[in-house]
Amino acid sequence: MTTPGKAGLAILISGRGSNMQAFIDACASGQLHAGISIVISNNPQAPGLQRAADAGIATCCVDHREYGSREAFDQALVDCLADYRVDLVILAGFMRILTPVFITTFCGRLLNIHPSLLPLYPGLHTHRRALEAGDEEAGVTVHFVTQELDGGPPVLQARVPIIPGDTPDSLAARVMLREHIIYPMAASWHLQGRLRLEGKSAYLDEAPIPANGVQYREDTS
Ligand code: GRF
Repeated sequence: MTTPGKAGLAILISGRGSNMQAFIDACASGQLHAGISIVISNNPQAPGLQRAADAGIATCCVDHREYGSREAFDQALVDCLADYRVDLVILAGFMRILTPVFITTFCGRLLNIHPSLLPLYPGLHTHRRALEAGDEEAGVTVHFVTQELDGGPPVLQARVPIIPGDTPDSLAARVMLREHIIYPMAASWHLQGRLRLEGKSAYLDEAPIPANGVQYREDTS
């Protein structure tokens, strides 16, 4: 729900919505001076939709199977969002590849979270791939969304150690704890006007962000 004077977020999900929940909590605690205007899912069965409705947030299902092309689906998303205040779009486990129809509309106001240390492991099964590669650490990256899949400039990245005996699930759980910290943090930078996209580069407080993103530490703020 948005309040006059507060920024409005749109959150797009496909599944359980634990990152969405982190935004609900961050708005409630005041960490984010924003309200969630709308939660959209492409998947009518997404558990996160109910979670959002239970929190009193407007929800909408735009089922991709009802559209003949990716562009038509994206236009339906744009049309849906036109009814709400949207300062920033948060992709939170949204499992559809977006086209320029959507991406250009929200260029510079569109963030995603990807569960790997980008540019490592774009795409799916990131934790399994990190384990199979014998990596010593894994992590998660918040990045601006551009046309390139999981390829927009990184904003904020958190690392976790890989521990002997880790499985994709145990690693995912460790990474997830970091996801819920860094995603609202990156969004708060944007809402405060500290974070911007220019061309293919991201800037924080007018300084170029390193290629892997700002590296999260306990004292990052
Ligand atoms: C997270 O691992 C996120 O990094 C990825 O999709 C997953 C979504 O999980 N993009 P949830 O629905 O937020 O719990």
